[in-house]
Amino acid sequence: MKLRILGSAAGGGFPQWNCNCRNCHGLRTGTVRATARTQSSIAVSGNGRDWLLVNASPDILAQLRANPPLQPARSLRDTGIAAVVLMDGQVDHVTGLAMLREHRRPLPVWCTDAVAADLRLGYPLFEVLGHFCGVEQRSIPLDGSRFAIPGVDGLTLAAVPVASKAAPYSPHRDAPEPGDNIGLTFVDDAGRSVFYAPGLAAIEPRTWDAMCRADVVIVDGTFWRDEEMIDLGISTRRARAIGHLPQAGADGMIAWLDRLPATTRKLLIHVNNTNPILDEDSAERAELARHGIAVAEDNQELVP
Ligand code: MLT
Ligand code: MN
Ligand code: ZN
Repeated sequence: MKLRILGSAAGGGFPQWNCNCRNCHGLRTGTVRATARTQSSIAVSGNGRDWLLVNASPDILAQLRANPPLQPARSLRDTGIAAVVLMDGQVDHVTGLAMLREHRRPLPVWCTDAVAADLRLGYPLFEVLGHFCGVEQRSIPLDGSRFAIPGVDGLTLAAVPVASKAAPYSPHRDAPEPGDNIGLTFVDDAGRSVFYAPGLAAIEPRTWDAMCRADVVIVDGTFWRDEEMIDLGISTRRARAIGHLPQAGADGMIAWLDRLPATTRKLLIHVNNTNPILDEDSAERAELARHGIAVAEDNQELVP
C-alpha cells in the first residue's frame, strides 16, 4: 500500500486566510517555525497506480499539482483517481468534488447514506455535479463488513461509525446519526493496514478496536486543548462539542495513543491552525515526539 497525505490541516487550512492567531501570524512573518498546510485529505493505493481519494478538500487542485503520482498522463484527459470516498459531509472534506467536474464519466463517490442525504439537501453538491460529469454514488456499509472499490485494486476497506459531528447544514447536526462521520480501515493484499479518522470526538469501543488492529493510525489532531478556541476568544464551543477530541488531558488523544501496541505508527491529521503542535519549537510538539506521535505533513508519502 502507498498512502499520500494530500492535506494535513483542519477546515480553514494553515495559515487561515482571516486569522492572525500566534501560529497564522507567526508563519506569515517567519517568527514561528512551522509549515503551511492545506485542508485534510489523503490518497491511498494498493498497486501504486490507481488511487482512492479520501475526502475532496477545497484545496484539491493545488494538492494534485503537488502530488504527481495522481496524474499518470496516459491520455489527453486522465487522472489517477479511481474513486472518491467521503468520511463526512463537512465543507473541508467535500467541496473539492466540484473541482473534479471535468471528469470524463460520472464520478464514483462512496459515502454513507447520512452523508449522501446532506449532499443532496443541505449542501447540494451532487445536484450541482449532475450538471457536469454526474455522480455515481455508492453506499458505504456501516456493519463493519469489508468492501472493495471497483478500479482500486489490491485494497479492501471497512468502515466504523464514529462519534464526531455532522456539518452545520445537516438536518441532523444536533441529532447525530450513525454514518455522519466514519473511520476507515484500509487493508492491502499483504495484510498491512491503516486506520484513518480525521474527525473523532470520542473513542468508542468499536473505534478503539479498529485502532488496535491497524499497523498505522492517522487520527484527529484538530485541537490541543478542549478550550483552545474559547480561550482565544474565537468560539464559544469546546473542541469535543464540535466533534474533536483534544490531545491533552487524562482522557485526551495522547493518552489513548499511548495505549496502542508499541509497534503502531501514530500520526495526527486535520490539525487546526490554532493548535500549538504546528509550532515545531513548541513544548507541545516536543511532548508529542516523546510519545512517539508524528504530525502528518502535506505531500508526505507513507508505505505502511
Ligand atoms: C470541522 O471539522 O469541525 C469542520 O470541518 C470545521 C469547518 O470546516 O468549518
Ligand atoms: Mn473538518
Ligand atoms: Zn490561526
